[in-house]
Amino acid sequence: MARVRISSPLLVFLICTVLAIAVSHAARVQKHGEGEETRRKLLNNGLGHSPQMGWNSYNHFPCKLNDKLIRETADAMVSSGLSALGYEYINLDDCWAELNRDSKGNLVPKASFFPYGIKALADYVHSKGLKIGIYGDAGTQTCAKTMPGSLGFEEQDANTFASWGIDYLKYDNCHNKGVNPQERYSKMGKALLKTGRPIFYSLCEWGQDNPATWAPSIGNSWRTTGDIKDTWDSMTGRADQNNKWASYAGPGGWNDPDMLEVGNGGMSKEEYRSHFSIWALAKAPLILGCDLRSIDNDTFEILGNKEVIAVNQDTLGVQGKKVKKNGDLEVWAGPLSGKRVAVILWNRGDSKATIAAQWSDIGLKSSAAVDARDLWEHTTTHTVKHKIEATLESHACKMYILTPQ
Ligand code: GLA
Repeated sequence: MARVRISSPLLVFLICTVLAIAVSHAARVQKHGEGEETRRKLLNNGLGHSPQMGWNSYNHFPCKLNDKLIRETADAMVSSGLSALGYEYINLDDCWAELNRDSKGNLVPKASFFPYGIKALADYVHSKGLKIGIYGDAGTQTCAKTMPGSLGFEEQDANTFASWGIDYLKYDNCHNKGVNPQERYSKMGKALLKTGRPIFYSLCEWGQDNPATWAPSIGNSWRTTGDIKDTWDSMTGRADQNNKWASYAGPGGWNDPDMLEVGNGGMSKEEYRSHFSIWALAKAPLILGCDLRSIDNDTFEILGNKEVIAVNQDTLGVQGKKVKKNGDLEVWAGPLSGKRVAVILWNRGDSKATIAAQWSDIGLKSSAAVDARDLWEHTTTHTVKHKIEATLESHACKMYILTPQ
């Protein structure tokens, strides 16, 4: 047998290299471990195992919220049947507080909007079997400039929210004085944990400092985009911006391309159906933004589609993404529990077109035969092989779950 001779300088070099690799690996494990530790604490609060579902006042009622509206919205969430489908949070956005803190530095509910205070409102929302969310800002003032931000008041405000029975905080990014976002957002995250009350933490940093890369250890969701508007261009733009962060989402923390505009009137029924389908597949928060008190049948048919909601809430928790693009014709897909695959065929162009997803595009074996469930038609086609294909009107989509036989 040939013997390999190693000179002593070479031996020293090899030992040093091995040691350096081991030390850097240990440092990485420790760093990752700390993040995981904070994340497990959030998970132990039972929050964010699947994307949050609920309603927020901002898209339909910017700065026009009040006690009556919130109570009526909670009533409508239950009476419409939406709460039974999983929508649980009723969230107040900007403008709920007075411009100034009280003499002890506490936030004060705006008396003309909330004459009975927030605690009484929270009790009412809870009595309907729902949860209540509130809005704050990681700066000196909120975006509408009508109330104070929480920068420097994190513990005090977190304690106030907990004492009122708040279940969810959306934390905005205006007037932040240039203070590092990780510092500002983690301060409030720690303050919320310290209250001992499970409070879902929704970071609204607009994706400016790539929060997907640092927010998973701090909160349950993080905005990846600026504000959505009720238009096709705004909605599709947000879907694309959010898509690139797909690998960072998972149980406990989700990418947030902003709230839903379905039902607000600025898009067609097909466009809203696409909006809801893509948000569901991308494991985005399903936060409704329309007036629930006057929801029409078309809107209910979209927001109340149990099969689409089930894709969003699937236990595997993997964000589906764009897997194929041919001009304006796109295929979006992602894995689901039970070896199933969710697929969207989406015509973003101006004219009718045929779109196909080959099995190789969406992670299925070429030999697979699947049951294809059409989630909008509520029909199943058996033993589909090689590809799934559809002809779609402008801005329309098809959404399927494929189950290998
Ligand atoms: C920012 C947020 C919005 C909304 C408004 C309220 O623009 O991104 O979602 O909360 O502030 O003023």
